[in-house]
Amino acid sequence: MGIQSTGLRDTSHVSRVRASVGDRVVGRERELDLVLAAVAAGRDILLEGPPGTSKSTILRAIAEEWGIPFVLVEGNADLTPSKLLGGHDPARVLREGYRDENFVDGPLVRAMREGGFLYIEEFNRAPDDTLNTLLTAMAEREVTIPRIGTFPAQSTFRIIGSMNPYDHVGTTRLSTSVHDRFNRLVLGYQDAQAERQIVALRTDGGPDGGADVSVDLTDALVTDAVALTRATREREDTRQGSSVRGAIDLVLVAGQLLALHGIDSPGEGRVTAEEDNRRRYAEAVLDAALVALSGRIHVDESAGTTPERVLREIWEDHFILHPAAAEPG
Ligand SMILES: Nc1ncnc2c1ncn2[C@@H]1O[C@H](COP(=O)(O)OP(=O)(O)O)[C@@H](O)[C@H]1O
Ligand SMILES: [Mg+2]
Repeated sequence: MGIQSTGLRDTSHVSRVRASVGDRVVGRERELDLVLAAVAAGRDILLEGPPGTSKSTILRAIAEEWGIPFVLVEGNADLTPSKLLGGHDPARVLREGYRDENFVDGPLVRAMREGGFLYIEEFNRAPDDTLNTLLTAMAEREVTIPRIGTFPAQSTFRIIGSMNPYDHVGTTRLSTSVHDRFNRLVLGYQDAQAERQIVALRTDGGPDGGADVSVDLTDALVTDAVALTRATREREDTRQGSSVRGAIDLVLVAGQLLALHGIDSPGEGRVTAEEDNRRRYAEAVLDAALVALSGRIHVDESAGTTPERVLREIWEDHFILHPAAAEPG
């Protein structure tokens, strides 16, 4: 059941979708309202925010709850107009010649035919001729491929782009005619509480999810991982810190490491044995942070530091200089 079958302006259906989408996404109330309002209004939209700020999560949840196809493509220099449109299967062309049945839909044609969301990540990295193909599809709501035919878009077809404002290719490279055709929503990082909820959600149980460690330890890990990860975004010497994805990996890697080392509590530093536990816990978290976060933070070239040094400083600040802030609970 799509937007089409229930009518674009069926407000009770939009409300139902909004409620079920809310159950799948942590926080983001306002953003969910706005994205849903834009697509329900039949508009296309660009989501602008650093990696890991729930752009794909929001879009996928809306498409799935609305019951319309979600077609994802990565915007990069290889995304040519013909990749987007589709082409003849070369093996079948050799055997049977150019025939309509040999045509394999590209993501744009598929999204138009099926009335889906065409979600283009790193939209600003797509080449200019590809952007032009998209603008034409948006304006005409149909696409014509020479020798193949014209494909009208179903009414639920939308183009959604996402991009990272810190991308060195730059969001300003998009021409004003591109910007003039899109709505735009800017997303920032969520607050610490929401990030802890997201990390807990994504690291909990599952066949290869969290390691077999105690509840106390998992809670401490989530809190510490989110605090360390957020600190990477607040530094003068880094251009871009890690997203919540880094915190998720940090918890998963540290959980396995602690299990390997037989550490089953975060320690509280009050008695000697506990102090020792605390130190071993903190060291495992540092090692896991180096693995989970070092590739995700981009230091300022002029700062003369390294991701490893930045992480060690953040870790010392969290566990040694201000340990009270690190205490769980
Ligand atoms: N608000 C949120 N609710 C639930 N999970 C989230 C939320 N934000 C991010 N995540 C999780 O964090 C990861 C990155 O989110 P994603 O939506 O892919 O980011 P983006 O598309 O902006 O790069 C995913 O594993 C996703 O499940
Ligand atoms: Mg994404």
